[in-house]
Amino acid sequence: MSVKVSPSILAADLSRLKEELQRIENADYIHVDVMDGRFVPNITFGIPIVEAIRKSTSIPIDVHLMIVDPMPYIKEFVDAGAEVLTVHYEACTHLHRAVTSIKTLGSKAFVAINPHTPISALEEIVNFVDGILVMSVNPGFSYQKFIPTSLDKIRKLRAIVPKDTDIEVDGGVTLKNAADIVRSGATILVSGATVFGSESPYETVKQLQKADVVTT
Ligand code: DX5
Ligand code: ZN
Repeated sequence: MSVKVSPSILAADLSRLKEELQRIENADYIHVDVMDGRFVPNITFGIPIVEAIRKSTSIPIDVHLMIVDPMPYIKEFVDAGAEVLTVHYEACTHLHRAVTSIKTLGSKAFVAINPHTPISALEEIVNFVDGILVMSVNPGFSYQKFIPTSLDKIRKLRAIVPKDTDIEVDGGVTLKNAADIVRSGATILVSGATVFGSESPYETVKQLQKADVVTT
């Protein structure tokens, strides 16, 4: 089975978002990074952008909430069209409630962890989620460098999650490190710079989807 690829529109040319989406029509998801300027040192998109993307493409939308206390906004993001809704472990006081509410509303619930958060912190939540997102850079920006110890974290995570749980890896994914990331246990690769910074985002998505069979 090939790995799924979720290009992050944070690295796209937002002045021509619709064309950018057409350049990645083979993607498995569209990754939308929602940042509030408090949980992370950057402010990006909100609900209207998710609604606009929903109207422009039929590719499932994967919304990554990097906001403090996401609970009051969960329903709005699900209604806007987030097939996958990710909340951060570090941002939720009542994580189990947030995850349950996403699933009850009909979306897939993922939990993200920052680079400093140990896998052991997820022990009591892994049986309730559809996926875990491992941040392989400190969240806030595209074009950062992959933290190499993330590979070990992915392996540790794979050992404790149920078999059909997705492991999404976000930050600094390149054509060079993608194979190692997939072999460590990832099933979804997020990519901003590698996809949108390339000459042919379509071809780059294709290459990343084959990361587990191609040795680079
Ligand atoms: C960082 C975001 C990422 C980012 C990935 O906080 O969560 O999704 O856009 O971009 P690259 O692939 O360039 O690291
Ligand atoms: Zn992200």
